[in-house]
Amino acid sequence: MDHFEYRDGVLYGEDVPLTRIADEFGTPCYVYSRATLARHYRAYAEALGSHPHLICYAVKANSNLAVLGLLAKMGAGFDIVSVGELERVLAAGGEPARVVFSGVAKQEAEMARALEAGIKCFNVESRPELERLNAVAGRLGLRAPVSLRVNPDVDAGTHPYISTGLKDNKFGIPVDEALAAYELAAALPHLEVVGLDCHIGSQLTELAPFLDALDRLLVLLERLRERGIEIEHLDLGGGLGVPYRDERPPAPFDYATALLERLSAWPGSERLTLLFEPGRSIAANAGVLLTRVEFLKPGETKNFAIVDAAMNDLIRPALYQAWQAILAVDTRHPRDAAIYDVVGPVCETGDFLGKDRELAIAADDLLAVRSAGAYGFVMASNYNSRPRPAEVMVDGDRAHLVRRRERLEALWAGESLLPDDAEEAR
Ligand code: LLP
Repeated sequence: MDHFEYRDGVLYGEDVPLTRIADEFGTPCYVYSRATLARHYRAYAEALGSHPHLICYAVKANSNLAVLGLLAKMGAGFDIVSVGELERVLAAGGEPARVVFSGVAKQEAEMARALEAGIKCFNVESRPELERLNAVAGRLGLRAPVSLRVNPDVDAGTHPYISTGLKDNKFGIPVDEALAAYELAAALPHLEVVGLDCHIGSQLTELAPFLDALDRLLVLLERLRERGIEIEHLDLGGGLGVPYRDERPPAPFDYATALLERLSAWPGSERLTLLFEPGRSIAANAGVLLTRVEFLKPGETKNFAIVDAAMNDLIRPALYQAWQAILAVDTRHPRDAAIYDVVGPVCETGDFLGKDRELAIAADDLLAVRSAGAYGFVMASNYNSRPRPAEVMVDGDRAHLVRRRERLEALWAGESLLPDDAEEAR
Protein backbone atom coordinates (compact mmCIF):
# COMPACT_ATOMS: atom_id res chain seq x y z
CA MET A 1 0.00 0.00 0.00
CA ASP A 2 1.25 3.43 -0.84
CA HIS A 3 -0.04 6.97 -0.98
CA PHE A 4 0.15 7.64 -4.72
CA GLU A 5 -3.32 7.56 -6.24
CA TYR A 6 -5.55 9.31 -8.76
CA ARG A 7 -8.03 11.89 -7.63
CA ASP A 8 -10.35 13.23 -10.32
CA GLY A 9 -7.97 12.09 -13.03
CA VAL A 10 -4.77 13.53 -11.54
CA LEU A 11 -2.08 11.49 -9.81
CA TYR A 12 -1.41 12.65 -6.27
CA GLY A 13 1.34 11.96 -3.77
CA GLU A 14 -0.57 12.04 -0.48
CA ASP A 15 -2.59 15.27 -0.77
CA VAL A 16 -0.36 16.94 -3.32
CA PRO A 17 -1.12 16.77 -7.07
CA LEU A 18 2.09 15.77 -8.86
CA THR A 19 1.36 18.52 -11.40
CA ARG A 20 1.98 21.04 -8.61
CA ILE A 21 5.32 19.45 -7.80
CA ALA A 22 6.43 19.64 -11.42
CA ASP A 23 5.41 23.33 -11.56
CA GLU A 24 7.17 24.15 -8.34
CA PHE A 25 10.35 22.09 -8.57
CA GLY A 26 10.69 21.16 -12.25
CA THR A 27 11.40 17.78 -13.78
CA PRO A 28 12.92 15.27 -13.66
CA CYS A 29 12.24 15.01 -9.97
CA TYR A 30 11.95 12.22 -7.43
CA VAL A 31 8.91 12.45 -5.18
CA TYR A 32 8.75 10.49 -1.93
CA SER A 33 5.77 10.03 0.38
CA ARG A 34 6.48 10.43 4.07
CA ALA A 35 3.36 8.50 5.08
CA THR A 36 4.29 5.55 2.86
CA LEU A 37 7.81 5.33 4.24
CA ALA A 38 6.45 5.47 7.77
CA ARG A 39 3.82 2.87 7.03
CA HIS A 40 6.31 0.42 5.57
CA TYR A 41 8.66 0.84 8.51
CA ARG A 42 5.81 0.37 10.96
CA ALA A 43 4.73 -2.84 9.23
CA TYR A 44 8.04 -4.40 10.28
CA ALA A 45 8.08 -2.89 13.73
CA GLU A 46 4.52 -4.00 14.51
CA ALA A 47 5.09 -7.51 13.22
CA LEU A 48 8.02 -7.96 15.56
CA GLY A 49 5.97 -6.65 18.46
CA SER A 50 7.52 -7.43 21.82
CA HIS A 51 10.22 -9.74 20.48
CA PRO A 52 13.54 -7.93 20.92
CA HIS A 53 14.35 -6.49 17.52
CA LEU A 54 16.02 -3.75 15.54
CA ILE A 55 15.06 -2.76 12.03
CA CYS A 56 18.20 -1.50 10.34
CA TYR A 57 17.04 0.29 7.21
CA ALA A 58 19.48 -0.38 4.35
CA VAL A 59 20.73 3.11 3.63
CA LYS A 60 21.87 2.20 0.12
CA ALA A 61 18.25 1.97 -1.05
CA ASN A 62 17.60 5.67 -0.55
CA SER A 63 20.01 7.72 1.49
CA ASN A 64 18.38 11.14 1.36
CA LEU A 65 18.76 12.83 4.76
CA ALA A 66 15.02 13.41 5.01
CA VAL A 67 14.37 9.68 4.57
CA LEU A 68 17.02 8.77 7.12
CA GLY A 69 15.86 11.44 9.55
CA LEU A 70 12.27 10.27 9.39
CA LEU A 71 13.25 6.66 10.05
CA ALA A 72 15.67 7.66 12.82
CA LYS A 73 12.83 9.49 14.58
CA MET A 74 10.72 6.35 14.33
CA GLY A 75 13.44 4.41 16.14
CA ALA A 76 15.05 2.68 13.18
CA GLY A 77 18.57 1.44 13.06
CA PHE A 78 20.60 1.52 9.86
CA ASP A 79 22.57 -0.89 7.73
CA ILE A 80 25.49 0.95 6.14
CA VAL A 81 28.12 -0.13 3.63
CA SER A 82 30.53 2.81 3.66
CA VAL A 83 31.77 5.63 5.82
CA GLY A 84 29.78 7.95 3.57
CA GLU A 85 26.59 6.20 4.60
CA LEU A 86 27.68 6.38 8.25
CA GLU A 87 28.19 10.13 8.03
CA ARG A 88 24.79 10.50 6.37
CA VAL A 89 23.12 8.56 9.19
CA LEU A 90 24.86 10.69 11.80
CA ALA A 91 24.00 13.90 9.92
CA ALA A 92 20.35 12.81 9.86
CA GLY A 93 20.29 12.24 13.63
CA GLY A 94 20.60 8.44 13.55
CA GLU A 95 22.05 6.72 16.59
CA PRO A 96 25.42 5.06 16.03
CA ALA A 97 24.51 2.39 18.56
CA ARG A 98 21.83 1.24 16.11
CA VAL A 99 24.09 0.96 13.09
CA VAL A 100 25.39 -2.24 11.52
CA PHE A 101 28.17 -2.04 8.97
CA SER A 102 28.01 -4.49 6.03
CA GLY A 103 30.19 -4.82 2.93
CA VAL A 104 33.02 -6.96 1.66
CA ALA A 105 35.83 -4.39 1.59
CA LYS A 106 35.75 -2.09 4.59
CA GLN A 107 38.83 0.08 4.63
CA GLU A 108 40.89 0.70 7.75
CA ALA A 109 39.84 4.34 7.97
CA GLU A 110 36.18 3.34 7.63
CA MET A 111 36.56 0.78 10.40
CA ALA A 112 38.27 3.34 12.63
CA ARG A 113 35.56 5.96 12.13
CA ALA A 114 32.81 3.43 12.81
CA LEU A 115 34.58 2.20 15.94
CA GLU A 116 35.02 5.73 17.25
CA ALA A 117 31.39 6.51 16.53
CA GLY A 118 30.41 3.41 18.52
CA ILE A 119 28.36 1.41 16.04
CA LYS A 120 26.39 -1.64 17.11
CA CYS A 121 28.13 -4.21 14.97
CA PHE A 122 30.43 -4.95 12.06
CA ASN A 123 29.02 -7.57 9.71
CA VAL A 124 32.28 -9.22 8.75
CA GLU A 125 32.50 -11.05 5.45
CA SER A 126 35.90 -12.81 5.52
CA ARG A 127 38.76 -13.98 7.74
CA PRO A 128 41.19 -11.30 6.51
CA GLU A 129 38.56 -8.71 7.38
CA LEU A 130 38.43 -10.11 10.94
CA GLU A 131 42.17 -9.66 11.23
CA ARG A 132 42.09 -6.15 9.82
CA LEU A 133 39.30 -5.12 12.18
CA ASN A 134 41.14 -6.67 15.15
CA ALA A 135 44.26 -4.66 14.28
CA VAL A 136 42.36 -1.37 13.85
CA ALA A 137 40.44 -1.85 17.10
CA GLY A 138 43.67 -2.75 18.89
CA ARG A 139 45.34 0.46 17.72
CA LEU A 140 42.41 2.46 19.05
CA GLY A 141 42.31 0.55 22.33
CA LEU A 142 38.77 -0.63 21.59
CA ARG A 143 36.93 -3.91 21.07
CA ALA A 144 34.95 -4.24 17.88
CA PRO A 145 31.53 -5.91 18.10
CA VAL A 146 31.28 -8.43 15.27
CA SER A 147 28.81 -10.63 13.52
CA LEU A 148 29.87 -12.96 10.74
CA ARG A 149 27.97 -12.75 7.51
CA VAL A 150 27.44 -16.33 6.57
CA ASN A 151 26.66 -17.37 3.04
CA PRO A 152 24.04 -20.08 3.54
CA ASP A 153 24.10 -21.20 -0.12
CA VAL A 154 20.39 -20.87 -0.78
CA ASP A 155 18.93 -19.86 -4.11
CA ALA A 156 16.98 -16.68 -3.63
CA GLY A 157 15.36 -17.12 -7.05
CA THR A 158 15.93 -13.51 -8.04
CA HIS A 159 17.85 -11.64 -10.75
CA PRO A 160 21.46 -12.94 -10.86
CA TYR A 161 22.89 -9.44 -10.28
CA ILE A 162 21.03 -9.08 -6.99
CA SER A 163 21.33 -12.64 -5.70
CA THR A 164 23.92 -12.77 -2.96
CA GLY A 165 23.50 -15.98 -0.96
CA LEU A 166 24.89 -18.55 -3.36
CA LYS A 167 28.31 -20.19 -3.16
CA ASP A 168 29.36 -18.42 -6.35
CA ASN A 169 28.69 -14.95 -4.96
CA LYS A 170 31.45 -12.84 -3.46
CA PHE A 171 29.49 -12.28 -0.26
CA GLY A 172 29.86 -13.79 3.18
CA ILE A 173 31.71 -16.72 4.66
CA PRO A 174 30.68 -20.15 3.33
CA VAL A 175 28.49 -21.81 5.92
CA ASP A 176 30.83 -24.80 6.29
CA GLU A 177 33.77 -22.50 7.07
CA ALA A 178 31.82 -20.36 9.51
CA LEU A 179 32.62 -22.34 12.67
CA ALA A 180 36.34 -21.96 12.17
CA ALA A 181 35.90 -18.26 11.38
CA TYR A 182 33.92 -17.80 14.62
CA GLU A 183 36.65 -19.57 16.57
CA LEU A 184 39.17 -17.16 15.08
CA ALA A 185 36.94 -14.18 15.91
CA ALA A 186 36.50 -15.39 19.50
CA ALA A 187 40.24 -15.79 19.88
CA LEU A 188 41.20 -12.36 18.55
CA PRO A 189 41.65 -10.01 21.53
CA HIS A 190 40.10 -6.86 20.10
CA LEU A 191 36.92 -8.44 18.77
CA GLU A 192 33.74 -9.33 20.59
CA VAL A 193 31.43 -11.81 18.91
CA VAL A 194 27.85 -10.54 19.21
CA GLY A 195 25.92 -11.69 16.18
CA LEU A 196 25.32 -13.88 13.19
CA ASP A 197 23.98 -12.58 9.92
CA CYS A 198 23.14 -13.32 6.31
CA HIS A 199 21.65 -11.52 3.35
CA ILE A 200 20.68 -13.79 0.50
CA GLY A 201 19.53 -11.38 -2.17
CA SER A 202 17.11 -8.69 -3.10
CA GLN A 203 13.58 -8.56 -4.54
CA LEU A 204 12.67 -11.99 -3.15
CA THR A 205 9.04 -12.83 -3.70
CA GLU A 206 8.79 -16.09 -1.73
CA LEU A 207 9.25 -16.89 1.94
CA ALA A 208 10.88 -20.28 1.42
CA PRO A 209 14.46 -19.07 0.76
CA PHE A 210 14.36 -16.87 3.87
CA LEU A 211 13.13 -19.78 5.98
CA ASP A 212 15.78 -22.10 4.49
CA ALA A 213 18.46 -19.56 5.33
CA LEU A 214 17.12 -19.20 8.87
CA ASP A 215 17.17 -22.98 9.35
CA ARG A 216 20.80 -23.12 8.27
CA LEU A 217 21.75 -20.30 10.59
CA LEU A 218 20.00 -22.00 13.50
CA VAL A 219 22.03 -25.17 12.93
CA LEU A 220 25.16 -23.06 13.04
CA LEU A 221 23.98 -21.25 16.16
CA GLU A 222 23.58 -24.60 17.88
CA ARG A 223 27.14 -25.58 17.01
CA LEU A 224 28.43 -22.25 18.26
CA ARG A 225 26.62 -22.76 21.53
CA GLU A 226 28.25 -26.16 21.94
CA ARG A 227 31.59 -24.41 21.61
CA GLY A 228 30.65 -21.79 24.18
CA ILE A 229 30.21 -18.98 21.66
CA GLU A 230 27.00 -17.14 22.59
CA ILE A 231 25.30 -14.89 20.08
CA GLU A 232 23.15 -11.91 21.11
CA HIS A 233 21.53 -11.16 17.79
CA LEU A 234 20.54 -12.79 14.56
CA ASP A 235 20.46 -10.52 11.51
CA LEU A 236 18.55 -11.87 8.52
CA GLY A 237 19.47 -9.07 6.15
CA GLY A 238 17.09 -7.40 3.76
CA GLY A 239 15.72 -8.67 0.50
CA LEU A 240 11.96 -8.72 0.77
CA GLY A 241 10.53 -7.91 -2.65
CA VAL A 242 7.90 -5.41 -3.66
CA PRO A 243 5.16 -5.49 -6.29
CA TYR A 244 6.57 -3.70 -9.34
CA ARG A 245 4.12 -5.34 -11.71
CA ASP A 246 2.29 -8.55 -10.89
CA GLU A 247 4.66 -9.95 -8.27
CA ARG A 248 2.91 -10.86 -5.04
CA PRO A 249 5.66 -10.82 -2.42
CA PRO A 250 4.69 -11.48 1.19
CA ALA A 251 3.98 -8.32 3.18
CA PRO A 252 6.59 -7.35 5.79
CA PHE A 253 4.12 -8.40 8.47
CA ASP A 254 3.70 -11.94 7.05
CA TYR A 255 7.41 -12.27 6.47
CA ALA A 256 8.33 -11.24 10.01
CA THR A 257 5.58 -13.36 11.52
CA ALA A 258 6.71 -16.48 9.62
CA LEU A 259 10.29 -15.99 10.75
CA LEU A 260 9.29 -15.40 14.37
CA GLU A 261 7.21 -18.55 14.30
CA ARG A 262 10.10 -20.62 12.96
CA LEU A 263 12.42 -19.06 15.49
CA SER A 264 10.13 -19.68 18.44
CA ALA A 265 10.76 -23.43 18.18
CA TRP A 266 14.37 -22.77 18.99
CA PRO A 267 15.30 -22.92 22.70
CA GLY A 268 16.35 -19.54 24.03
CA SER A 269 15.02 -17.68 21.02
CA GLU A 270 13.22 -15.14 23.20
CA ARG A 271 16.61 -13.79 24.23
CA LEU A 272 17.86 -13.57 20.65
CA THR A 273 17.43 -10.07 19.22
CA LEU A 274 16.22 -10.20 15.64
CA LEU A 275 17.62 -7.73 13.12
CA PHE A 276 16.39 -6.99 9.63
CA GLU A 277 18.03 -4.83 6.99
CA PRO A 278 15.16 -3.91 4.67
CA GLY A 279 15.75 -1.32 1.98
CA ARG A 280 13.53 -1.81 -1.04
CA SER A 281 10.44 -2.92 0.89
CA ILE A 282 10.51 0.35 2.84
CA ALA A 283 11.43 2.80 0.11
CA ALA A 284 10.59 1.49 -3.38
CA ASN A 285 6.86 2.11 -3.48
CA ALA A 286 7.22 5.25 -1.43
CA GLY A 287 8.64 7.11 -4.43
CA VAL A 288 8.05 8.01 -8.06
CA LEU A 289 10.21 9.65 -10.68
CA LEU A 290 8.36 12.53 -12.25
CA THR A 291 9.33 13.32 -15.83
CA ARG A 292 7.99 15.40 -18.70
CA VAL A 293 7.49 14.32 -22.29
CA GLU A 294 9.77 16.38 -24.53
CA PHE A 295 8.73 14.93 -27.87
CA LEU A 296 6.62 12.15 -29.26
CA LYS A 297 8.39 10.46 -32.14
CA PRO A 298 6.15 8.09 -34.06
CA GLY A 299 7.99 5.51 -36.17
CA GLU A 300 7.39 2.69 -38.59
CA THR A 301 8.07 -0.07 -36.10
CA LYS A 302 8.17 1.86 -32.82
CA ASN A 303 6.76 4.98 -31.27
CA PHE A 304 9.04 6.80 -28.89
CA ALA A 305 8.02 9.02 -26.03
CA ILE A 306 11.18 10.99 -25.38
CA VAL A 307 11.16 12.28 -21.82
CA ASP A 308 13.47 14.49 -19.77
CA ALA A 309 14.55 11.69 -17.39
CA ALA A 310 17.12 9.17 -18.52
CA MET A 311 19.13 6.13 -17.52
CA ASN A 312 21.46 8.40 -15.57
CA ASP A 313 18.50 9.33 -13.33
CA LEU A 314 17.01 5.84 -13.01
CA ILE A 315 19.23 3.01 -14.20
CA ARG A 316 17.20 -0.01 -13.09
CA PRO A 317 15.40 -0.58 -16.41
CA ALA A 318 18.66 -0.36 -18.39
CA LEU A 319 20.78 -2.33 -15.92
CA TYR A 320 18.44 -5.11 -14.83
CA GLN A 321 15.73 -4.92 -17.47
CA ALA A 322 13.57 -3.95 -14.52
CA TRP A 323 9.93 -3.19 -15.23
CA GLN A 324 8.47 -0.19 -13.46
CA ALA A 325 4.99 1.13 -14.13
CA ILE A 326 4.77 4.40 -16.06
CA LEU A 327 1.63 6.46 -15.62
CA ALA A 328 0.29 9.63 -17.16
CA VAL A 329 -0.03 12.11 -14.31
CA ASP A 330 -2.94 14.18 -15.62
CA THR A 331 -5.55 12.14 -17.46
CA ARG A 332 -8.17 14.87 -17.69
CA HIS A 333 -7.42 15.80 -21.31
CA PRO A 334 -8.52 13.64 -24.23
CA ARG A 335 -5.56 11.92 -25.88
CA ASP A 336 -5.15 9.05 -28.32
CA ALA A 337 -3.57 6.01 -26.82
CA ALA A 338 -0.58 4.38 -28.49
CA ILE A 339 2.23 1.98 -27.62
CA TYR A 340 5.48 3.75 -26.77
CA ASP A 341 9.01 3.04 -25.74
CA VAL A 342 9.66 5.64 -23.07
CA VAL A 343 13.23 6.79 -23.62
CA GLY A 344 15.52 9.51 -22.32
CA PRO A 345 17.90 12.03 -23.86
CA VAL A 346 21.09 10.01 -23.20
CA CYS A 347 23.03 8.86 -26.25
CA GLU A 348 22.64 5.12 -25.73
CA THR A 349 20.16 2.67 -27.14
CA GLY A 350 19.94 1.18 -23.64
CA ASP A 351 18.56 4.47 -22.35
CA PHE A 352 14.97 3.54 -21.69
CA LEU A 353 12.62 3.73 -18.73
CA GLY A 354 10.05 1.37 -20.16
CA LYS A 355 9.26 -0.45 -23.38
CA ASP A 356 6.00 -1.14 -25.15
CA ARG A 357 3.84 0.89 -22.81
CA GLU A 358 0.34 1.87 -23.70
CA LEU A 359 -0.01 5.55 -22.92
CA ALA A 360 -2.47 8.28 -23.87
CA ILE A 361 -0.11 11.24 -23.93
CA ALA A 362 1.01 14.34 -25.81
CA ALA A 363 4.23 16.37 -25.75
CA ASP A 364 4.65 18.32 -22.47
CA ASP A 365 2.59 15.83 -20.49
CA LEU A 366 3.91 14.56 -17.20
CA LEU A 367 4.67 10.91 -16.53
CA ALA A 368 5.36 9.18 -13.23
CA VAL A 369 7.66 6.16 -13.10
CA ARG A 370 6.45 4.22 -10.11
CA SER A 371 8.33 2.21 -7.49
CA ALA A 372 11.31 4.52 -7.86
CA GLY A 373 11.89 5.30 -4.19
CA ALA A 374 14.55 2.58 -3.79
CA TYR A 375 17.69 2.25 -5.91
CA GLY A 376 16.58 5.29 -7.89
CA PHE A 377 18.32 8.55 -7.02
CA VAL A 378 21.09 6.70 -5.18
CA MET A 379 22.16 5.02 -8.43
CA ALA A 380 21.91 8.22 -10.46
CA SER A 381 25.01 9.48 -12.24
CA ASN A 382 26.08 12.53 -14.18
CA TYR A 383 26.51 10.64 -17.45
CA ASN A 384 26.17 12.97 -20.42
CA SER A 385 26.89 15.80 -17.94
CA ARG A 386 23.35 15.73 -16.70
CA PRO A 387 22.78 17.24 -13.26
CA ARG A 388 21.08 14.84 -10.89
CA PRO A 389 17.37 15.48 -10.32
CA ALA A 390 15.70 17.22 -7.41
CA GLU A 391 14.16 15.20 -4.59
CA VAL A 392 10.91 16.22 -2.94
CA MET A 393 9.09 14.69 0.00
CA VAL A 394 5.37 15.12 0.32
CA ASP A 395 3.78 15.12 3.75
CA GLY A 396 0.00 15.51 3.71
CA ASP A 397 -0.66 18.60 1.63
CA ARG A 398 2.89 19.90 1.91
CA ALA A 399 5.80 19.30 -0.45
CA HIS A 400 9.34 19.78 0.84
CA LEU A 401 12.38 20.06 -1.37
CA VAL A 402 14.75 17.60 0.31
CA ARG A 403 17.53 17.89 -2.25
CA ARG A 404 17.73 20.67 -4.74
CA ARG A 405 18.43 19.91 -8.37
CA GLU A 406 22.14 19.63 -8.90
CA ARG A 407 23.59 22.83 -10.31
CA LEU A 408 25.55 22.83 -13.52
CA GLU A 409 28.71 24.12 -11.81
CA ALA A 410 28.59 21.08 -9.51
CA LEU A 411 29.28 18.95 -12.56
CA TRP A 412 32.88 20.10 -12.77
CA ALA A 413 33.45 21.13 -9.15
CA GLY A 414 36.71 19.59 -7.99
CA GLU A 415 38.07 19.30 -11.53
CA SER A 416 40.88 21.47 -12.82
CA LEU A 417 42.52 22.44 -16.06
CA LEU A 418 46.13 21.47 -16.62
CA PRO A 419 48.50 24.26 -15.61
CA ASP A 420 49.35 26.72 -18.41
CA ASP A 421 52.88 25.36 -18.73
CA ALA A 422 51.77 21.74 -18.91
CA GLU A 423 52.52 21.34 -22.58
CA GLU A 424 55.96 22.95 -22.30
CA ALA A 425 56.90 20.72 -19.42
CA ARG A 426 56.28 17.63 -21.54
N1 LLP B 1 21.64 -5.80 3.49
C1 LLP B 1 22.65 -6.04 2.64
C2 LLP B 1 23.89 -6.59 3.18
C3 LLP B 1 22.50 -5.78 1.26
O1 LLP B 1 23.50 -6.05 0.43
C4 LLP B 1 21.28 -5.24 0.78
C5 LLP B 1 21.11 -4.94 -0.65
C6 LLP B 1 20.27 -4.98 1.72
C7 LLP B 1 20.47 -5.28 3.06
C8 LLP B 1 18.94 -4.39 1.32
O2 LLP B 1 18.24 -5.26 0.49
P1 LLP B 1 16.74 -4.92 0.05
O3 LLP B 1 15.87 -5.02 1.26
O4 LLP B 1 16.74 -3.56 -0.50
O5 LLP B 1 16.44 -5.95 -0.97
N2 LLP B 1 20.33 -2.06 -7.02
C9 LLP B 1 19.54 -3.27 -7.00
C10 LLP B 1 19.42 -3.85 -5.60
C11 LLP B 1 20.77 -4.16 -4.97
C12 LLP B 1 20.65 -4.68 -3.57
C13 LLP B 1 21.97 -4.77 -2.91
N3 LLP B 1 21.97 -5.17 -1.54
C14 LLP B 1 18.18 -2.98 -7.61
O6 LLP B 1 17.94 -1.84 -8.02
O7 LLP B 1 17.35 -3.87 -7.76
